Amino acid sequence: MCGIVGYIGTKEAAPILVRGLKRLEYRGYDSAGLAVLGKEGISWQKKQGKVKNLEDALSAHPLHGALGIAHTRWATHGVPSDQNAHPHRSQHGEVYVVHNGIIENYAELKKELTQRGHTWESETDTEVLAHLIGDIVAHGTNSLQESVRLALTQVRGAYAIVVMSAKDPSTLVAARKGSPLAIGMGTGEFFIASDASAILEYTNQVLYLNDEEVAQVSLDGSGVTIVSLSKEVKNPYIETLSMSLEDAEKGSFPHFMLKEIFEQPKSLTDCMRGRLNMQDETIMLGGVRNHEKQLREVKKITLVACGTASYAALAGARYFEEFCRVPAQVVIASEYRYQNPIIGENEIVISVSQSGETADTLAAIRLAKERGALALGITNAVGSSIARETDAGVYLHAGPEISVASTKAFTAQVLALLMLALRISELKGTFNGERKKELFAQMRNIPNLIEEQLKKAGDIEVLAKKFIDTTDVFYIGRGYGVAAAFEGSIKLKELSYVHAEAYPAGEMKHGPISLLDETFPVVAIATRSAHVEKVVSNIEEARARKAKVIMLATEGDASRSDIADHTIPVPDVDEALTPIITAVPLQLFAYYSATLRGRDVDHPRNLAKSVTVE
Ligand code: G6P
Repeated sequence: MCGIVGYIGTKEAAPILVRGLKRLEYRGYDSAGLAVLGKEGISWQKKQGKVKNLEDALSAHPLHGALGIAHTRWATHGVPSDQNAHPHRSQHGEVYVVHNGIIENYAELKKELTQRGHTWESETDTEVLAHLIGDIVAHGTNSLQESVRLALTQVRGAYAIVVMSAKDPSTLVAARKGSPLAIGMGTGEFFIASDASAILEYTNQVLYLNDEEVAQVSLDGSGVTIVSLSKEVKNPYIETLSMSLEDAEKGSFPHFMLKEIFEQPKSLTDCMRGRLNMQDETIMLGGVRNHEKQLREVKKITLVACGTASYAALAGARYFEEFCRVPAQVVIASEYRYQNPIIGENEIVISVSQSGETADTLAAIRLAKERGALALGITNAVGSSIARETDAGVYLHAGPEISVASTKAFTAQVLALLMLALRISELKGTFNGERKKELFAQMRNIPNLIEEQLKKAGDIEVLAKKFIDTTDVFYIGRGYGVAAAFEGSIKLKELSYVHAEAYPAGEMKHGPISLLDETFPVVAIATRSAHVEKVVSNIEEARARKAKVIMLATEGDASRSDIADHTIPVPDVDEALTPIITAVPLQLFAYYSATLRGRDVDHPRNLAKSVTVE
């Protein structure tokens, strides 16, 4: 949450910073700002709203200089406004800071500094940090890196920061604890960003900072030097990224979301690549190979996740119970750490997270590990905090997901969890026979089935038009259909701002049904499964209350075609694949419902893609 960019080199910094911010806008867009150091000292510009507002202000009044920092904000402390936009500066305007995260003890620090005569320009915790660093710079002879390190030893909380000082025109300092930060190496120039996609057009040589590291990038020949908060010197570890710039761009699609929906045949193929052995129906997961003894002996599985990832986890929990016969539960990550969790004997805790940076999920998995669980990570972002801090895991290999609403990561998460469950079932010998053979064949064919479904996107757009005046929707399903219902409903509500709720279909009669009437439609997941007859009864109950029903049903299941007002046919697959096979029409329904209402689908209000605050 919040995106930060830094540049130091010989080119004009402002255009590079603004381009970087645009790529990071998925992390927040409440305000944007930048500061550059030029011949006349530091100048800055900050604007409430999207990066476009900042860009317009800069076209009217360009800022010159070859060193600068920039920020796009998702508000935590202080309302979205020009004043609260980053950067923030020290008392005498020497030091400027951009920050992603939360300084938890900012009130104490602010009180102390206020008593010493400091005055404030904003309501943010970040300004307090800028003053703290500025104070050390002003009253000492330390380098900027050492001043930042000293300041951070007084700070509690999470941060990724980039700092510049008017006193030091050839240096930028970056530090992280809990929020991601990458440093890109150019020739005679350096780039810093919350996410490497913001700097990929300039370099693929990247160094990811670790927690509690303070890096200095300098044009004086010393390059990058890193020290830990406890003053230990660290060796910079530079990686060559294989991600292409095209991966991080929209191409011919009007929105990242639509591009990512259409990428699913490829992302699912990539997720399965080299992992499905069709000869003997076995799964190969290199990331967990060294922990197979623990997988074989596992007695309980807990999945921790937030948002869409938690709905993928719902499917995962069913896989572990059904195929591995291991009790499994999903706990929302923000609750897990505060419920004093009991880690049972031979328990595995699995964190599911596209970004691998979600603060709640990271905190939950750290706690589980601390208490003795084997910690696994199902993540998309290679080298992310969760990927690094877990004992082992499975990468999604779904490619960068930029749209705030998660689509291709959801289907890949479900597939990765299915593969993990199948691997554990092999080790335990709990799932064999015809159904397994058939399931393997269907998994391999899933990308083709999704390709076919994507060809029918136009039908879903027509359907979405029919519900353009709808303000409330229920999503219902049973079994694997519950995960699909939850995921369908969050997509609709977060993008179109239509009130949407999901229930296990059997729950509808215990309260929600009283809301139904002719204005309140129900989306029902009624694909082939052991419980489809029961879902059909729930559809009848809804229709008896005059609710319009959109039913997702298995193709060719003609016996049910007349029970709903609208039927979306989906391919005939094993019920375990329901969350994947129903995802595409549900995603498209949400996408078109939002665009037809004129919503900004790639930037839904109040949301951010990567939530690195609790
Ligand atoms: C945010 C995003 C959601 C996402 C959730 C978890 O709320 O808006 O789309 O599902 O975070 O993110 P993660 O990166 O941990 O999967």
